[in-house]
Amino acid sequence: MESIKEHWEHVYATKRPDEMSWTQAVPQTSLDLIESFGLPVSAGVIDVGGGDGRLVDGLLDKGYTDITVLDISAQAIERARKRLGDRADRVTWMVSDIVEFKPVRTYDIWHDRATFHFLTHGEQVDAYLGTIRSCATSGVVIATFSTDGPERCSGLDVQRYSESTLEERLSTGFTKMGCLTQDHTTPFGTQQRFLFCAFRATP
Ligand SMILES: C[S@@+](CC[C@H](N)C(=O)[O-])C[C@H]1O[C@@H](n2cnc3c(N)ncnc32)[C@H](O)[C@@H]1O
Repeated sequence: MESIKEHWEHVYATKRPDEMSWTQAVPQTSLDLIESFGLPVSAGVIDVGGGDGRLVDGLLDKGYTDITVLDISAQAIERARKRLGDRADRVTWMVSDIVEFKPVRTYDIWHDRATFHFLTHGEQVDAYLGTIRSCATSGVVIATFSTDGPERCSGLDVQRYSESTLEERLSTGFTKMGCLTQDHTTPFGTQQRFLFCAFRATP
């Protein structure tokens, strides 16, 4: 059976951005929520499951100097690096399964759009939340499919969240700042309802 890593390597080896439902030209909501923390552009930001998404482009445009992009797919990271050209050298790139990721430093902001929701087993969720608690010092911006969003993505089951269930997951170590739902229009013209939430780390 295909592993999760093989699955995602295959996706990024065979699909263009306009063939992937999650593609966004400008990840404005993520950028706005990251900026809502009011941190300087020297803040450390990690984009978990960043794929070849454009959050990193937006953060570089805003002058952020300490950006890390992590993804299980080496193909995804390679695509993002190629797209950015010389600017890619200003970013730290990591290929890792987020469930096994053992950070060796802290990050001010942990960002995740559409990765956490692929963790459908309790022990995976617990490992992920433990990692956040150990390394996210200012807060977390997280986007999952909403309870009325799709049940699957990229052929995989997802765990959908309501504001209260996501808040409950993050309740140890974090306080909710705010949540919003957003209908993402896929490159094929369909809609996917996302839940975005920002959480502040509790001292
Ligand atoms: C739906 S895409 C979202 C990509 C990007 N965050 C965005 O919003 O455009 C999910 C991403 O999570 C990555 N991913 C899935 N499971 C992962 C895991 N266990 N560890 C790290 N990355 C993972 C995939 O390779 C893919 O790039």
